[in-house]
Amino acid sequence: MTKRIAVLTGGGDAPGLNAVIRGVVKTAIATYGWEVLGCRDGGEGMLSKDFLPLDLDAIRGIAARGGTILGTTNRGNPFRYPVKGPDGTTLVDRSDEAVANLREAGVDALVCIGGDGGLRIAHAFAKKGVRVVGVPKTIDNDLPCTDQTFGFDTAIQTATEAIDRLVTTAEAHHRCMVVEVMGRDSGWIALHCGIAGSANALLLPEIPFDLAKVAAFVRERGAGGKDYSIVVVAEGAKVAGEDVVLLEENEAAGIRRLGGIGQRVGAYIERETGVETRVTVLGHVQRGGSPSSLDRVLATRYGVEAAHLIARGQFDHMVALRGQDIVPVPLSEATSSIKTVDPESALVRNARDLGICFGDIVPSLLATRG
Ligand code: F6P
Repeated sequence: MTKRIAVLTGGGDAPGLNAVIRGVVKTAIATYGWEVLGCRDGGEGMLSKDFLPLDLDAIRGIAARGGTILGTTNRGNPFRYPVKGPDGTTLVDRSDEAVANLREAGVDALVCIGGDGGLRIAHAFAKKGVRVVGVPKTIDNDLPCTDQTFGFDTAIQTATEAIDRLVTTAEAHHRCMVVEVMGRDSGWIALHCGIAGSANALLLPEIPFDLAKVAAFVRERGAGGKDYSIVVVAEGAKVAGEDVVLLEENEAAGIRRLGGIGQRVGAYIERETGVETRVTVLGHVQRGGSPSSLDRVLATRYGVEAAHLIARGQFDHMVALRGQDIVPVPLSEATSSIKTVDPESALVRNARDLGICFGDIVPSLLATRG
């Protein structure tokens, strides 16, 4: 029988985390009469026994707040915990300690709010007998089995507002503006904010591009009287035949940070076209701030339904959005792949119809009226 549950937020933060926590806590207390503990800083808190009581006072007014009241980390995987030694960092399995600490704290079930990494950890804990349910979080929207993750809507809103601002200054100075957005190996953020912000070129991880074609497109736009251009580049976008550009990689410590492709594209465009070009890396601005109302509603529903999953004993599952409904999905399925943009999808075809250049072909300028 469930009496006490714990909640943790793991991986990079996303707007809406606090709304999920609130949904879980209110439902757990008001509907089921359970106690709730928060686990600080994701996996770190399980290992250091850093649990805090979450009552109704603790979650009052938090749905509108970005970040997470519990703290998070993308470094504290208990199954591959980085330990520094004389020979560098090694990864150690401390998951048994985490399970023992949960038991000692009297936790009967655990809600893991995470992205692909966090949900894989949740699934691994389920295999060790922990009664766990997952909630799909990430601004990248790259989790399969759910129509949308929370955090994505706010991120694309923020990125779109940034593009809107860059358009006016690009227009004033007759410049090309390159905007690098997040998304890791998927192009959802770039595709959505690019269409919403009327970008002229969109470079996605799913469509390897030719730098010469992007430059030719900017040049032809200029020749056709369009003396400014907006090029949105996903951080995971790749020049055809090349690897992604990384800011940092440390396999032993499980670190792989993308970034730098925007500078590469911007420098090439300026050199080849003579058009003055500036690069803006939106970075963590996309993860911060108050969640949109769509994200608040989605995150709240996820939290409420996660508590219901525990009550029904449907462990090793995550909550997912399908159409208008929140449904349970086995964590094994939800963590088996990432969801990427289909280059043949209707949305990409619609964008091509608008004359947006994806860097694989130079679209006809007849369509590039914007
Ligand atoms: O997965 C979310 C995300 O924001 C990615 O889009 C980005 O590549 C990564 O996290 C950045 O992580 P960090 O906060 O460690 O720099």
